[in-house]
Amino acid sequence: METIMISVDNFMDKEKTYAQAVDILKSEDVVAFPTETVYGLGAIATNERAVQKIFEAKGRPSDNPLIVHIGTQEEVAYYAEEITAAAKKLMGAFWPGPLTLVFRQKRGHIAPNVTPGVDTVGIRMPDHPVALNLLRQLKEPLAAPSANRSGKPSPTEAQHVKKDLDGRIPLILDGGRTGVGLESTVIDMTTEPPTILRPGGVTKEMIEGVIGPVTASDSQGNKESVPRSPGMKYTHYAPEAPLYMIEPDAGKIDKAIQTLHNDGQQVAVIGPDELHNTRADWYFAIGARNDTETMATNLYHALRRCDDTESTIILAVETDLAGVGTAFMNRLSKAADGKRYTD
Ligand code: TXA
Ligand code: MG
Repeated sequence: METIMISVDNFMDKEKTYAQAVDILKSEDVVAFPTETVYGLGAIATNERAVQKIFEAKGRPSDNPLIVHIGTQEEVAYYAEEITAAAKKLMGAFWPGPLTLVFRQKRGHIAPNVTPGVDTVGIRMPDHPVALNLLRQLKEPLAAPSANRSGKPSPTEAQHVKKDLDGRIPLILDGGRTGVGLESTVIDMTTEPPTILRPGGVTKEMIEGVIGPVTASDSQGNKESVPRSPGMKYTHYAPEAPLYMIEPDAGKIDKAIQTLHNDGQQVAVIGPDELHNTRADWYFAIGARNDTETMATNLYHALRRCDDTESTIILAVETDLAGVGTAFMNRLSKAADGKRYTD
């Protein structure tokens, strides 16, 4: 299969491109498209055969439920039951945006392979003009995981999708780089209080500002516990060379690089602009130290850049946990499989 990539910026014939994407989706195939978090690989969520193609293209384990994307808030009621007052408040405050709400599922609409093994459904309205345009022209919900090969970092550019899925999917809508850079926050609204299953761009503080106290699942970074959000148990986001987290301490980073060089290692470092170290074989500066949002936007891109180097080991500098730092450290910790550099 040839994979075509079409830019949906202002200079292209956008209408024709959306019509083509809608045709492909209606013929039970998949299309990759940008959202404000990461690129998604979409299929019509009510069509089992179409959804099956997502699992095939990604090599994704089939016991991991997919998020359903919708273009208007009214659609939630078609697919979900027990939509609480708190859920309505969250949708009002953060949709469209990087927040997925898990509801009890209304049966008979969503294809069974979208939500294997659970009686709930995760739904979000993405805040990206291309995603919203596609959903509104299609007039169907789209099941869409991140558009990477399973185990790779989520794609934040169309090129990343192309690298992972070339020849496996018919169409990539190229809408440039994504803004948030990490996947949406997932919150389970079927528990009382609600439980954050995956931290993301909408932070715990932001959610509590709207509905009061919520809990954070301990499966957030912990592979051992029984996963509430099934996707959290798989190794994720990993670049090819082994990755270790390291404290944001210039002296420790410098010493680590020297020790690793003495061992014959080639060292790539991902870290804030301020800690740029000229001894590193590659230093990927991902933003100012106090600007965790920018660092989050650039993290996956930097992880993928490491795969383009000859590095034999990667050190990635930790951030604090304030705001989107929780999500940043959650993803980094998964990419490192929990490993921290100690000398
Ligand atoms: O930002 C995002 O959420 C991106 C874009 C494309 O929307 N999508 C994404 O999908 O990250 P995916 O499939 O890579 O991750 C979905 C996560 C998984 O950890 C999955 O286990 C969890 O959400 N999830 C989905 N439905 C669920 C449900 N009904 N109950 C619990 N967890 C669920
Ligand atoms: Mg994913």
